[in-house]
Amino acid sequence: MGDSSFGKDFCITIFGESHGSAIGTVVDGCSAGLRLSTDDFQAELERRIPTDPTLTSTRRERDEVQILSGVFEGYTTGAPVAMLTWNRDVRSQDYEELRFLTRPGHADYPMRLKYGGFNDFRGGGIASGRLTVPLIMAGTIAKKLLRLVGINVFAHTIQIHTVKMERKLSLEATRQNAYTNSVRCADAETAEKMREAILKARSQGDSVGGIVECIAENVPPGIGDPFFDGLDADLAKIIFSIPAVKGFEVGLGFGSSAIQGSENNDQYAVQEGKIVTLTNNAGGILGGLSNGMPIIVRAAFKPPSSIAKEQKTVNLKEMEGTTVQVTGRHDPCVVPKAVPVVEATVAIVLADHCLRSGKIPRVIGKKEIV
Ligand SMILES: Cc1cc2nc3c(=O)[nH]c(=O)nc-3n(C[C@H](O)[C@H](O)[C@H](O)COP(=O)(O)O)c2cc1C
Repeated sequence: MGDSSFGKDFCITIFGESHGSAIGTVVDGCSAGLRLSTDDFQAELERRIPTDPTLTSTRRERDEVQILSGVFEGYTTGAPVAMLTWNRDVRSQDYEELRFLTRPGHADYPMRLKYGGFNDFRGGGIASGRLTVPLIMAGTIAKKLLRLVGINVFAHTIQIHTVKMERKLSLEATRQNAYTNSVRCADAETAEKMREAILKARSQGDSVGGIVECIAENVPPGIGDPFFDGLDADLAKIIFSIPAVKGFEVGLGFGSSAIQGSENNDQYAVQEGKIVTLTNNAGGILGGLSNGMPIIVRAAFKPPSSIAKEQKTVNLKEMEGTTVQVTGRHDPCVVPKAVPVVEATVAIVLADHCLRSGKIPRVIGKKEIV
């Protein structure tokens, strides 16, 4: 398996660069018989771009997905599903002056070293938020497979810079409200404060980070393949692959290190004939396996590095210190766009493990012979 692939039975390979001709994914292992059309992908990709244009980069890609293989007469065939979207709104000239000026906080310098300078540096190349589009494509298929077995995955914003979502809402209310605003926070009042925090940073030529929480409901107990392919291990790996992620936690996460076992343990009970836990500090995962409670994970995003404020850097050609102000089109905060990306990555891991455990069948139904 190459470096751009993830998953065993639901194996995705992503390809493309920010300013290359196209970006896309190949999903190998999708069950045959899943109804699938370009409309499914369009709906998911539109969720990636917040409706409020002031919160994001002014790059506007229409992202019309083309399915190249693996779908016949409206259903998946069981063969690899390959799909792509063309990059059209590129302004590579913005990057010419960055050819030798390495942006502080971005991947320019280590990329140049690793690939001997052959890497396509325009727009960050493979180290670009653009590469999250193929993740959403693969996640669309994963979510459709999961829905067949009643698993529902959704994500929302719980923090932007220092503004935190303090209100406790039910899972249902969170799901209903998260996408009613451009920062994807389920509480309208907090969402407005988060929006102001992004706009303030932008007006100062700066940027801010934040935290995305993702919840997966109805995951049956016993999913996951310890030792190295435990659910939490796989989730950490794919979530840390999302550009700008600097922290990951499951359930109470880092918070569990500051309390005692008696507080941290989720005590068991039987409710309506089912084993449940009375709290969910474990975030639905124990020993790398689902325990039947909602899976809850969080991803912390750093403030994006390409900012208009002047910062010190080095001209790699001259080997001299200088300064840089990044003036191209950049997101002042990646979190609003990253919410559906985190959702997609969690769905990819769950679809993979549900296929591995046989919870999702390899063939869905049977085609009528006419
Ligand atoms: C959806 C999304 C959009 C992003 N947009 C930008 C951007 O406009 N400008 C920028 O400097 N970084 C942006 N990033 C972050 C960089 O891609 C990332 O910081 C870079 O690849 C270095 O990797 P690292 O931060 O994970 O170490 C974005 C990330 C995501 C997930």
